[in-house]
Amino acid sequence: MKVIIKKNYEEVSQYVAQEIIHLVNVHPRAVLGLATGSSPIRTYELLKEDHMNNGTSYKQVCSYNLDEYSGLTPDHPQSYHYFMHKQLFDGLDIRPENIHLPDGETDPEKACAHYSAMLKKHPRDLQLLGVGSNGHIGFNEPGTSFDSHTHKVALKESTIKDNARLFFNGDEDAVPHYAVTMGIRDILDAKKIILIACGARKAKAVAALVKGPVTTDCPASVLQTHPDVLIVIDEEAAQLLK
Ligand code: F6R
Repeated sequence: MKVIIKKNYEEVSQYVAQEIIHLVNVHPRAVLGLATGSSPIRTYELLKEDHMNNGTSYKQVCSYNLDEYSGLTPDHPQSYHYFMHKQLFDGLDIRPENIHLPDGETDPEKACAHYSAMLKKHPRDLQLLGVGSNGHIGFNEPGTSFDSHTHKVALKESTIKDNARLFFNGDEDAVPHYAVTMGIRDILDAKKIILIACGARKAKAVAALVKGPVTTDCPASVLQTHPDVLIVIDEEAAQLLK
């Protein structure tokens, strides 16, 4: 695990965007695992700017997102489908048929089995992650088995609170209590993993995932067992690492 400490969110985003742009230029058919949330928003803006200004093409790129809320239609403004189109896909030349997110709407058992099978067939060259303040990755909350594949989860109270901030205008009652997420095993199957964390709010989770024991109490700590992980954080998120 390599830890890269940058001054602030902007520098973190610049660094991560360059990693992705480089990968896509070298491997035009790259398979990307993508995340939602506030952490990658600026990175996504930079990818769109680069596509517009430098012509990096995503025509042959495939994407697989980490997760989706249960019960929201893809056109629901708080769904992760909607978020990804607005924040990234609509500004790239990626083909709609190459974009994949878990189906949070229909029969979860079928949807999870279908998504897991697709992930197995299309291993990610790069998986982008954020981390929850409780150490979750994807929506794999503390206690999730490291061998898990795509599954339906009940969100923890802390995650509902965190996400209300970004997605539901602070209205916790509007946040769905369930989601469908890639499992930890699926995440670890990616060739390379980049985790972004910024702000003092993430300092505890960052310290636990980098220096703590590998334990399901902090799902992100499992990244210590992966051979190619970059943790890209700002100074505030790094404050408990010394
Ligand atoms: C998002 C996801 C989550 C977030 C995490 C951090 O697809 O799977 O694990 O990465 O909750 O969220 P932010 O970036 O909003 O702090």
